[in-house]
Amino acid sequence: MNSPLLQVRNLTHSFLEGDEKVHALRGVSFEANKGEVTSIIGPSGCGKSTLMYLLGLLEQPETGDILINNKSISRLSDLQRTRIRNERIGFIFQFHFLIKELSARENVALPAIKKGDNSREALKRADQILNQLGLGKKLDRFANKLSGGEQQRVAIARALINSPSIILADEPTGNLDTANSEIVFNLLQTLSRKQNLAVILVTHNNQLAKRCDKFITMNDGLILS
Ligand SMILES: Nc1ncnc2c1ncn2[C@@H]1O[C@H](COP(=O)(O)OP(=O)(O)OP(=O)(O)O)[C@@H](O)[C@H]1O
Ligand SMILES: [Mg+2]
Repeated sequence: MNSPLLQVRNLTHSFLEGDEKVHALRGVSFEANKGEVTSIIGPSGCGKSTLMYLLGLLEQPETGDILINNKSISRLSDLQRTRIRNERIGFIFQFHFLIKELSARENVALPAIKKGDNSREALKRADQILNQLGLGKKLDRFANKLSGGEQQRVAIARALINSPSIILADEPTGNLDTANSEIVFNLLQTLSRKQNLAVILVTHNNQLAKRCDKFITMNDGLILS
């Protein structure tokens, strides 16, 4: 039995829009295991990205708690949260925000270099990961000279460079055709199993969501199932 790497307890979060309070999350609880992909689906505006921002420690929840390895992390100092984010969490977004003036390998190595790793070592590791993801022939290609599917694979490689234990993927296949969606999805599934990662995958694709180990449906800031 897998131990839950990530525990989310009764998270709430709201935004102020002028005078109006938007309740984006109204009490969300779930667990995610190592070695599994947990998918989250739900209509636009139901709070999926807000949840991902909180899980990524980019924002503090209004109430509730997030635990990694049974340790509460949502109330730590900004510095401690940044360290945990850099060391343990990898992000993949629908719009992958690669730096187009940098090559594939430079884009991938950047989070490691930012963290203070030796740049030659970081680039070597970037090459290895890109190789594993089938991009070994395109290491020096500028990001904007790659196809959409290739760019998304570079974004996955970038999310892996610091050896995270949690991958947060917010609609990583949203921009891709069916064939590339399939490649990216299979890659996430394989990575979760082989590297024992907890992958949280937000998607609008029901078919993909149902193929995951765990399947969560959200609506209006709540989890339905
Ligand atoms: N920075 C913000 N300021 C104000 N309201 C926000 C902000 N970010 C999100 N919201 C609101 O919070 C709610 C949840 O938004 P969120 O982006 O989490 O939805 P989502 O499920 O990711 O939607 P989508 O599928 O379209 O990406 C929405 O009502 C949205 O308008
Ligand atoms: Mg969203």
